[in-house]
Amino acid sequence: MDIFRTKSVEQSIRDTEAPEHQLRKRLTAVDLTVFGIGVIVGTGIFVLTGQVAKTMAGPAVAISFVVAGVVCGLAALCYAEFASTIPVAGSAYTFSFATLGEFPAWIIGWDLMLELALAAAVVSVGWSGYFASMLESVGVHLPAALAGDDPVVNLPAVLIVLLLTIVLAVGIKLSSRVNLTLVIVKIAVVLLVIVAGLFFVKGQNYSPFIPEPVPLPPGQGMEAPLIQVMFGITPVAFGVIGIFSAAAIVFFAFIGFDIVATASEETIHPQRDVPRGILGSLAICTALYVAVSVVVTGMQRYSELSTAAPLSDAFTAVGYPWLATIISVGAIAGLTTVVLVLLLGQTRVMFAMCRDGLLPRSLAKVSPHYGTPARLTVIIGLVTMALAGFVSFGELAELVNIGTLFAFVVVSIGVVVLRRTRPDLERAFRAPLVPVLPIVSVLACVYLMLNLPVQTWIRFVVWMAIGLVLYFAYGYWNSRAARRATHLPKADL
Ligand code: ALA
Repeated sequence: MDIFRTKSVEQSIRDTEAPEHQLRKRLTAVDLTVFGIGVIVGTGIFVLTGQVAKTMAGPAVAISFVVAGVVCGLAALCYAEFASTIPVAGSAYTFSFATLGEFPAWIIGWDLMLELALAAAVVSVGWSGYFASMLESVGVHLPAALAGDDPVVNLPAVLIVLLLTIVLAVGIKLSSRVNLTLVIVKIAVVLLVIVAGLFFVKGQNYSPFIPEPVPLPPGQGMEAPLIQVMFGITPVAFGVIGIFSAAAIVFFAFIGFDIVATASEETIHPQRDVPRGILGSLAICTALYVAVSVVVTGMQRYSELSTAAPLSDAFTAVGYPWLATIISVGAIAGLTTVVLVLLLGQTRVMFAMCRDGLLPRSLAKVSPHYGTPARLTVIIGLVTMALAGFVSFGELAELVNIGTLFAFVVVSIGVVVLRRTRPDLERAFRAPLVPVLPIVSVLACVYLMLNLPVQTWIRFVVWMAIGLVLYFAYGYWNSRAARRATHLPKADL
C-alpha cells in the first residue's frame, strides 16, 4: 500500500490546466490583501478581546496578540514560500500532497474542514448575535427560538450563510467586490475605535498591566490547558502563564491569512502577489489588534469589559451610545466578510481534493457559466447552514484553533522537505533561515496547541480518526495518484 505517494509540483500545476477544472485568473495583490483582511479581522477582535482580557490576561491581552501574531508570522513565511512555488488551489492540502504524500495531504484536507467550514459556522453565529442586538436597538425582537443565546435554530446565521453561498457561486470577482466594500467599512470602524477610544483612555486602568495569577476553580479538568494537566501545574488564569493561554485563544483572530493561499490559482501573478497578500494582510491586522486591545483595556477596567460586544459596549460605558451603534454596524459588516472568505477557502480546498479523486471527482466541475465550482459551493453552503443553525459559539472556536495550528505545523515541515526533495524548483519567495525558521514555527505552534483545553484535544483526535476511516474506505481506492501509478489509459485520469 503506497499511502505516501506524492503528486509532483508539475502535475499539480498541469491539473489546473484541464479546461473543465479551470478556475478563472482575475485576482491581484490588492485583491488578495483585501481578501486576507476580510477574513482575518472578525470575531477575534470584535468579541474575543473583551472575553480574554476579562478572564485570562487583563490589559496584557495586547501581549497575547503580539505572541499569537509572531507565531502566525513564522507560519506565514512558510505559507508564502509554498504559495509562490505551487500556485494551485488547496493551500496546505496541495502543499502536503507535493511533499509529504497523499495520506498526509488527505489528513490536512480533512483537518482544514475544521478550520474553514466550522469557523464559517461559528462566525455566522457571532454575526447573528450582533444582528439580533442591532434589531433590538431599533425595537425589533426576534423570537428566542430563532436567535439569541440558545435558539432552537439560529435563523439569521442560516440566512447569512445562504446569501453568501449565492454570492460565491455566482463568481469570484463579484465576491471580491462585495468583500472590498465590507472591508472598507470594517477597517473604518476599527480605526474609529482606536482614534476615538484614545480620548477616553485612563492610565489607572493599566495598573496592574499583568494581573496577579488566580487559581482556576477545581473540577475544571477538561477545560484546563493540556500543558497544565500534563505537567501537573495548578491551572491558573492571569499572570505570565495567562498571557500564553490567552494567546492560544486570540490566535483565532489571526486565522485567515493562510486562506489567501487557497486563492492563488485565481491570481494573475501568483508567484509575486500571493506572498505579498499573505504577509501584508497579517502585518496590517497585527498592528490593528494591538492598538485596539491597548485602547479598549485603557477605556474600561479589564474586569468590567463586556464579553458579548466589548468594543461597542466600552463606548456605551463612557457615555457615547451612538458610537456604539456605529461600531455594531461595522462588526456586522466585518463578520460578513469573514464568513464569505472562510466559505471560499473551504470550497477551494475541497475542490482540490475532489479533483484528485480523494472525494468524488464529479463535484469538482467548474460551472461554464460562472467560472466557479458552483455545485461544490452549494453543497458546502448547505452543510455550513446546517452547522450554523445548530452549533454554539464558545468551545468550537478552540476546535478551529487546534485544527489550524496543526495545518501550520505540517506546512512548516513541508517547506523543509520540499527544499530537500526539489531544490531545483523556482521559488519566487524564499522563507529566510530555513530550516531554523520552520523548526521554530513548528515548536511555537505546538506550544500554542498545548495551551488549548483537554476537551478540545479529544474532539480533535475524534475528528481526525473519522477522516482516517474515510480515507481507507474511499480516497485510497479512488485517488488519481493511484490510477496514475497503475498506468491506466490517459482518458481515465
Ligand atoms: N480571524 C477570524 C475572526 O477573528 C476567523 O473572526
